[in-house]
Amino acid sequence: MNSSTRAAFGPHHRMAEPDDSGARLSAGWCATGRPATLPEHLRRYGPPPVATARDGRAAVPLVEAVEGAGLTGRGGAGFPTAKKLRAVADGRGRSVVVVNAMESEPASRKDRFLITVAPHLVLDGAVLAAAAVGADTVHVCLPRTRAAQHQELGAAVEERRRARLDRVRIRLHALPHTYVSSESTALVRWLNGGPARPGGVPPHTHERGVARRPTLVHNVETLAHLALVARYGPDWFRRTGTPEEPGTTLLTVSGAVASPGVLEAALGTPLATVLERAGGPTQPLQAVLLGGFGGTWLSVEHVRTPMTRRDLAPLGAAPGAGVLVALPHQACGLRETARILGYLAAQSARQCGPCRYGLPAVTEDFAALAGGRPDGELLVRLRRRTGLLPGRGACGHPDGAARLAASALRVFAEDVDDHLAHGPCPSVDEPPRIAVPPATPPKAWR
Ligand SMILES: Cc1cc2nc3c(=O)[nH]c(=O)nc-3n(C[C@H](O)[C@H](O)[C@H](O)COP(=O)(O)O)c2cc1C
Ligand code: SF4
Repeated sequence: MNSSTRAAFGPHHRMAEPDDSGARLSAGWCATGRPATLPEHLRRYGPPPVATARDGRAAVPLVEAVEGAGLTGRGGAGFPTAKKLRAVADGRGRSVVVVNAMESEPASRKDRFLITVAPHLVLDGAVLAAAAVGADTVHVCLPRTRAAQHQELGAAVEERRRARLDRVRIRLHALPHTYVSSESTALVRWLNGGPARPGGVPPHTHERGVARRPTLVHNVETLAHLALVARYGPDWFRRTGTPEEPGTTLLTVSGAVASPGVLEAALGTPLATVLERAGGPTQPLQAVLLGGFGGTWLSVEHVRTPMTRRDLAPLGAAPGAGVLVALPHQACGLRETARILGYLAAQSARQCGPCRYGLPAVTEDFAALAGGRPDGELLVRLRRRTGLLPGRGACGHPDGAARLAASALRVFAEDVDDHLAHGPCPSVDEPPRIAVPPATPPKAWR
C-alpha cells in the first residue's frame, strides 16, 4: 500500500488518554443514557484525526496502527480489521464504506447501546476508515424497525454536516429487519437495489460491492474501536486484553443474572467474571449460551474459560457477537434450543439447499426431541444432518444453526437420553427462559 492510502493519526491529534480500567467505548457515557452531542464528543475526544491529502486519501498510517493494535471485527467472525482495510484500499477505483448497524441477533443489545450513547465515535470510525481506504461515501445500514435509532443517528449526521466536520458523504438507510439481512453481502445487495438477502461470493465485497466499487463492511463496535486506535495508538489499545487478542469488547449479558445488560470487558476475561459483573447468577446455572443464536452452548463447568477465540476454540465456541445468556438449572436446554432453531429456520432466505431442506429438517427433529416424541432413528438422523449443514450455504447462517444444535446435543447429553427414554421433562409447563422472536418468515426483503 502506498502512503497516500493511509489515514492520519498521531501525537499532534492526541487527547488525554481515557482511564483504562476496561471501559473504553462505554467510559463516561453509560450514565447519560442519551446520545453524546457533537460538542460533548469533541470536548472528550477532539476531532477525528483525519488529515486527508488532496487526492481525498489520507497521510498518516491508520491501517498500520490498526494492524499494530490487533483489532478484529466485533460483528461476529472476528476477522482482522487491518486485512480488510488493506484489501479495500488496494481495490480498483473509489471505494465505499458500509456501517453494519443492523444488530439482527435477538439476544444482542451492544450495537444499539453504542449508537445510543456514542454515535459520533461510531461515525468517526467510519469517516477514518473511509479516509484509510479512499472512500467518498459512508452508508449506514439500520433496520427499519428502529425509528429511535434513525432519529439519533440522523441527528448526529446532521450535526456533523452543519459543523462541516467530514469530507465524506454519510447516508443513512432503513433496511428490512430479518436475521440474515444484516449479513454483509445482503447489505450490499440491498444498497445495489436488490433484496436484503445474502448474495454469497464471488465477487468478493472488498473487490466489487456497492455500485461495483471496493466496499468495506464493518460492525459499529469495530469502527468505534478503530476511532480510539486512531487517537491513542496501537500500544494504548494493547494495554488491555491478551497479547494475541488485545482490547476490550462489548457484551450483552442476559438470562439468570441479577443485572442483565451491556457491559464492556477486556478480551481474556473469564466468562464467570463477566457473569459476576452482570450481578452474578440469580440461580444455580447449568450452561451459558455464548456468541448468539448461532453460537454455542457451554456447560457451566467451562465458565472459568477466558473469553478469547484461542481459549474457546477447543470447546467449539467463540465470542461471536458478544452474547452471553445464563441458563438456570431447572430450564430445559433442549427446549430452548428447539425454539431458537425454529426462529433461525423461519428467518433463512431459503435460497440454498441447507436452508431449504437441512435446517427445517433439523428443526423438526429437535422439536420432536424436546417435546419427547422421538422415533428410533431421531438422534442418528439429527447428528448426521447437523454435520451436513456447515459450509454449504451462500452465507454462514446454516453454520450457526448447526453449531447451536450440535453444542446442545453435547452439553445437554443427559437430557437427550432422558427425553429419548421418558419423554419431555417437567419444565415443559414452565415459561421459556430465552426471549425468542416468533418463528415467522420475513415479510419483506426489500
Ligand atoms: C446470518 C448472519 C447475520 C449477521 N448479522 C450481523 C449483524 O447483525 N451485525 C454485524 O455487524 N454483523 C453481522 N454479521 C456479520 C457480517 O456479515 C460481517 O461479517 C460484519 O458486519 C463485518 O464486520 P466486522 O469485520 O466489523 O465484524 C452476520 C453474519 C451472518 C452470517
Ligand atoms: S445459506 Fe441460507 S440464509 Fe444464507 S444465503 Fe443461503 S439460504 Fe440464505
